[in-house]
Amino acid sequence: MSKAGRLVVLVSGSGTNLQALLDASADPSYGARVVAVGADRDGIEGLVRAASADVPTFVEKLGDYPTRGEWDAAVAARIAAYEPDLVVSAGFMKILGTPTLDAFPVLNTHPALLPSFPGAHGVRDALAHGVKVTGCTVMLADEGVDTGPIVAQEAVPVLPDDDEAVLHERIKTVERRLLVEIVGLMAREGWTVSGRMVRIGNHTGGEST
Ligand code: GRF
Repeated sequence: MSKAGRLVVLVSGSGTNLQALLDASADPSYGARVVAVGADRDGIEGLVRAASADVPTFVEKLGDYPTRGEWDAAVAARIAAYEPDLVVSAGFMKILGTPTLDAFPVLNTHPALLPSFPGAHGVRDALAHGVKVTGCTVMLADEGVDTGPIVAQEAVPVLPDDDEAVLHERIKTVERRLLVEIVGLMAREGWTVSGRMVRIGNHTGGEST
């Protein structure tokens, strides 16, 4: 059973999910701590949050590499230097390549109830479809776009006057709490994956493996 004490968190934007993990891991009983933060761009709030918490950072921009494969390898090498037990893609707006996916378990978070509305505009797409309930999904990443085994989901209502920004903020409040809860459980209790079924400790019921 895998456990997850050392976290490398990847960000592309405001980093509020990262901040929630930083805040949670200030308590040693949480069982996990952020050992590095990586980004695919400069000048983002997520990197400022990491620096404020004295967590080392790295930036690897896709445009700095001749090929996607070389960027993939560079990202994997930067992550590997911190020897993480778990990589958390928390608002990281790139699909990770096999050098990272083959080397580390990667947890991802998405602001919709997968398999509905995958991709970069999950909130906008759910709103445009007219759903009355959406939510967030924490899943293990694979090589697809939001296709990996689902770890946890939580529903969030869509209200009549919602626009994308308002709905996304409502989802993110839930998403941060769920991500912190799941990372902590995975760190403290371990997890197993069988096909698409993810089991954390004994929390999903049934026999543990
Ligand atoms: C989250 O809703 C994440 O699921 C999505 O982008 C948002 C990132 O927010 N991909 P933040 O950077 O953690 O504030």
